[in-house]
Amino acid sequence: MRIFVTGATGFIGSAVVPELIKAGHRVLGLTRSDSGAQSLIAAAAEVHRGSLEDLDSLRTGAAAADGVIHTAFIHDFSKFKENCEIDRRAIEALGSALAGSDRPLIVTSGTAGVAAPGKVATEDQVVPPDLPFPRVSERTALSLQGVSASVMRLPQVHDTIKQGLVTYLIAMTREKGVSAYVGEGRNRWAAAHVSDVARLYRLALEKHEAGAKYHAVAEEGVAMRDIAETIGRGLKLPVVSLSPEKAAAHFGWLAMFAGLDMPASGAQTQQRLGWQPTGPGLIADLEQMNYLEADAVTASAARRA
Ligand SMILES: NC(=O)c1ccc[n+]([C@@H]2O[C@H](COP(=O)([O-])OP(=O)(O)OC[C@H]3O[C@@H](n4cnc5c(N)ncnc54)[C@H](OP(=O)(O)O)[C@@H]3O)[C@@H](O)[C@H]2O)c1
Repeated sequence: MRIFVTGATGFIGSAVVPELIKAGHRVLGLTRSDSGAQSLIAAAAEVHRGSLEDLDSLRTGAAAADGVIHTAFIHDFSKFKENCEIDRRAIEALGSALAGSDRPLIVTSGTAGVAAPGKVATEDQVVPPDLPFPRVSERTALSLQGVSASVMRLPQVHDTIKQGLVTYLIAMTREKGVSAYVGEGRNRWAAAHVSDVARLYRLALEKHEAGAKYHAVAEEGVAMRDIAETIGRGLKLPVVSLSPEKAAAHFGWLAMFAGLDMPASGAQTQQRLGWQPTGPGLIADLEQMNYLEADAVTASAARRA
């Protein structure tokens, strides 16, 4: 198949691209920059110039493909609401080019949208309509008329350089000089290694089922205290417990997640797609991380946050 991949130059997209090519697919990767085009060519993908704001570029990319994997997102959290709107319009544009066909559209979302403290979120759960969260990727994808859409809910996706929200946590720890968790730090974050996630996108595309909701989860829940202690050791900074009141000031925009218990299961996905995660766990990657080398990544994450 020829697959149009948005976010093809990002952390997850750049793992999905070689996974698809290795399996014999062709990739048309969206990029808005010369450096992105170069990295796509180096990965043996075709280049499609455009952006999330240029809806025509999304429509022509999708129209030229047998399927679409949408992983692009503008991670500037100071304009989160606006960026969620751009995402919604982008998904609608991609859908409009696929409507009336059975060409798959896989849209990326997060397991956080179905998190319920104390409960392990499962694939069959639907995102509550009153969720006070502006990101509507999933809702938009699953409401497209005549489009064979499915949703990939991601937990904290990691390697030894980047780890989802944990990357922002590391940046914040550096800035504040302490590695913090809330209360006893027993709240959990689900996780998966980026290589396993890339393979899952391919399986979801190949065995595609319209309306499916997948969980790219390898580890159901890693306790926040374990994450904070590992970061503290890595950065050689003290580890502290904060009360929920103090956590709001310490974590800033991350406060809504820092104390949140958001474990999730990938069991239905593993069974449905025959997916077996084999990559290292989140703590192992954080232990292997070179905190000096990762400085540039975390510094840029901190600037964007
Ligand atoms: N990483 C995680 O743990 C995690 C967890 C939950 C959900 N997610 C979601 O998974 C998806 C992929 O995440 P990621 O970690 O791979 O993000 P990332 O590394 O920040 O990559 C984002 C991608 O989006 C592209 N992009 C940004 N702004 C764009 C624009 N205006 N027009 C076109 N492309 C644009 C970037 O292209 P440039 O290279 O040109 O910047 C890049 O390819 C996102 O939807 C993210 O929210 C990720």
